[in-house]
Amino acid sequence: MAVAYFSRSRKRIGLNNGVFLFIFIVLSLTSLSCAARQPPASRQKLQVHKHLKRLNKPPVKTIESPDGDKIDCIHISHQPAFDHPFLKDHKIQMRPNYHPEGLYDSEKVKTESKERENSIHQLWHVNGMCPEDTIPIRRTKEDDVLRASSVKRYGKKKQSSIPLPRSIPKSADPDLVNESGHQHAIAYVEGDKFYGAKATMNVWEPKIQQSNEFSLSQIWILGGSFGEDLNSIEAGWQVSPDLYGDNNTRLFTYWTSDAYQATGCYNLLCSGFIQINNNIAMGASISPVSAYRNSQYDISILVWKDQKEGNWWMQFGNGYVLGYWPSFLFSYLADSASMIEWGGEVVNSEPDGQHTSTQMGSGQFPEEGFGKASYFRNIQVVDKENNLKAPKDIGTFTEQSNCYDVQTGSNSDWGHYFYYGGPGKNPNCP
Ligand SMILES: *[C@@H]1O[C@H](CO)[C@@H](O)[C@H](O)[C@H]1NC(C)=O
Ligand SMILES: *[C@@H]1O[C@H](CO)[C@@H](O)[C@H](O)[C@H]1NC(C)=O
Repeated sequence: MAVAYFSRSRKRIGLNNGVFLFIFIVLSLTSLSCAARQPPASRQKLQVHKHLKRLNKPPVKTIESPDGDKIDCIHISHQPAFDHPFLKDHKIQMRPNYHPEGLYDSEKVKTESKERENSIHQLWHVNGMCPEDTIPIRRTKEDDVLRASSVKRYGKKKQSSIPLPRSIPKSADPDLVNESGHQHAIAYVEGDKFYGAKATMNVWEPKIQQSNEFSLSQIWILGGSFGEDLNSIEAGWQVSPDLYGDNNTRLFTYWTSDAYQATGCYNLLCSGFIQINNNIAMGASISPVSAYRNSQYDISILVWKDQKEGNWWMQFGNGYVLGYWPSFLFSYLADSASMIEWGGEVVNSEPDGQHTSTQMGSGQFPEEGFGKASYFRNIQVVDKENNLKAPKDIGTFTEQSNCYDVQTGSNSDWGHYFYYGGPGKNPNCP
């Protein structure tokens, strides 16, 4: 009995062994065949999750925006800036030492009341606000990171491209000035020391032909040669399906101290900008936007240097001081800017070998004028004495004026202004 039992059980074990061996071989073959792709994929997933954990700090409160964004209210001292080794013991400046004054201050009351009527909000405000001592941060989704060419490149500009007016000597770095499909229509000033710039810019929702293209309107504060050492602070609005996953018009900032290579990023997607404001979220949708022959909306952006501490501050509208870029992030801009640019930029990836139909501004040419074409008005620069001043000797630049154009003007109400933009592809821009 015992023997029989033993042999029977052995048989059973033998059978099981066979099954196990079979399963083992199948499993090994499977894992062998996966060896080539699975580990990198899971490594990427791990990388993405680590990056998301770094970007998305534990929120005090979360507000769901109608556009699908989650806006996290993060304690002000837990924001991404403080991951920077140089900012470990940084004491947050809750207000700038200087605020530039001048030119349109007499009009301030008028402008403010007009702004209240036509007030521009961020879409997420309809569902709540962030409490004091927190800042609103658009939560980064896994898909946002996966759309980037790599985890490392997420939140950074893909190609370095700065509008380079022809007056700049061609000692500039060819890679940086090679427009590589980027098209601009801008106004600019140079040849002086600038300590800031301001503009009120019309807000639209330009159509983007392909998701790898974008359309933006912004101020550039530039320092250094147009080489690998270029310093830039940028702020404005953009439509960028790759960055945000939709076609909404969003408030954005950018900074770099090495021509878009290793340093800097959009919004708060890396350590750098220190935000103090609990109302405005970088990268969040702006609402409402202007409509053709209908209501017009614009936003004011001021970027200026606190010449005592050296930090570069940013203000949105007339009341929202958003925060600052610490001086140590920069080389040339630690002193001052050497050039200011205002205007639009689109990516023309030449789908089907033809010019893109991605729009700049409203998608209309400058000649169309108010209510149809997009504008920048009351453009000003900040001088060494901390005054806002009308820019002198404004130049304009565009690569192909048949695709996107720019036209300047001035009057007592709008100061120095320009209309800019265009439809891209059209019979004169094939
Ligand atoms: C600019 O870059 C594109 C692609 O990135 C390249 O095909 C082109 O030859 C470059 N042009 C110049 C003038 O370097
Ligand atoms: C964005 O707009 C393009 C056309 O301009 C459209 O094909 C695409 O589906 C839109 N994307 C989203 C997320 O709505």
